[in-house]
Amino acid sequence: MNRREVLGVVGATAAGLLTAGRRKAVYGYPAHETLNVGGLGCGGRFRQLMPAFKQIPGLRLIAVCDVWDQHIEQTKPFAEPQALITKDYHEVLARKDIDAVIIASPDHWHVPMTVDACAAGKDVYVEKPLTHSIAEGPAVIEAQNKHQRIVQVGMQQRSMPHMLKAYEVYKSGRCGKVHKVHLTWNRNAAIGGSRKLGIDPKTVDWKRFLGSAPDQPFDDYRFRHWRWFWDFGNGMLTDLMVHWLDVVHWFLDLDHPAEATTIGDQFAVKGLWEMPDTIQTFLRYPDQQVQVYFEGTFLNARNRAMIEMMGREATLYLDRGRYEVHPEPGKKGEREELIIGEGGRGADFYKQPDAELLHMTNWVECIRSRKRPNAPAEAGVSVAAAAHLGNKALRTNQVAKWE
Ligand SMILES: NC(=O)c1ccc[n+]([C@@H]2O[C@H](COP(=O)([O-])OP(=O)(O)OC[C@H]3O[C@@H](n4cnc5c(N)ncnc54)[C@H](O)[C@@H]3O)[C@@H](O)[C@H]2O)c1
Repeated sequence: MNRREVLGVVGATAAGLLTAGRRKAVYGYPAHETLNVGGLGCGGRFRQLMPAFKQIPGLRLIAVCDVWDQHIEQTKPFAEPQALITKDYHEVLARKDIDAVIIASPDHWHVPMTVDACAAGKDVYVEKPLTHSIAEGPAVIEAQNKHQRIVQVGMQQRSMPHMLKAYEVYKSGRCGKVHKVHLTWNRNAAIGGSRKLGIDPKTVDWKRFLGSAPDQPFDDYRFRHWRWFWDFGNGMLTDLMVHWLDVVHWFLDLDHPAEATTIGDQFAVKGLWEMPDTIQTFLRYPDQQVQVYFEGTFLNARNRAMIEMMGREATLYLDRGRYEVHPEPGKKGEREELIIGEGGRGADFYKQPDAELLHMTNWVECIRSRKRPNAPAEAGVSVAAAAHLGNKALRTNQVAKWE
């Protein structure tokens, strides 16, 4: 009899299967025990995570949930032959043999799914941004803590070895006091194209896609480009800036900015998106005496994707595969760098380090040990709130203040 069957008997004779859930929360899972996982929202990102998932011993994908036939078919090859296939994620959460879920749905579903999954006793890997609005934050933190779940937010920088090393460099005082941080996420992207994609509405459960979003007729462009529509996403600040700002919050011990100022324009996407394709936001953290400046555009790739923490002694440059320390003129110390990445300076994704593998491995280790993961719900809520404040400034065309 394996451990799950033992717990089943214990649960049946004692306080039911919920007891088994609580035991897992307390004791974890031994390294040899298989973890059964379900996927909620199995689109592009979910399948990007699958090569890492497949490399981690002891994981089985036994449920695939998506609202679109095409994405279900594309995900089936990663799942066990008898996997549950469904368009209703509640069916996945109802399965007692599922230990954990990976949530890679659009942003407006992250909190409802995570809260429900925690309540159902599942551990959760949920993609960033954790929240779709500032108001959602407390509920998801409470769900994680009340149900003692391991929630790992997909902010994979926190598991990258060069980031961890750079954190030590920063904490050693090498850069001096940092008052200004410069973040970029710039691409020269092929945007535009047709507003009609030709997706057969019969293949999509549109009501389930909408969830809490306002009711609206099926629109295949909004379905596939949901990031650029306020009902489902929050544009570049939550899609891209959160990755870098999370690193800044982590290194500099920041929580949320006191105020934000933002400008954004639709130079190439007028009539297509609700969001800007070019945006700049300024965040002020007066208690820590820090200003953060983020610039993002899809119309020019200068500087690509990078962080510069500008200290009195030196500037710390970071991207997804390296860090560099550039001493200020006349200040002590040599320029130093650590390049562990296989990819160009500022690349969106490096081939190495395999951040998905490292971050998911940390999640699985924490599921087994019940230790706190590298990117818990608190971190996801904190950084997403800063992005939401930036968007509030954009949408009101005023300085947005933290309330
Ligand atoms: N960490 C990273 O580096 C990274 C990279 C890319 C994307 N992401 C995040 O991953 C998430 C998904 O992005 P994507 O590019 O894969 O989008 P996508 O549209 O390709 O995938 C989302 C999937 O969720 C499905 N879905 C929508 N509502 C659902 C519901 N109620 N139940 C089940 N399935 C539902 C959609 O049909 C779709 O297949 C986003 O939050 C995005 O920010 C993170």
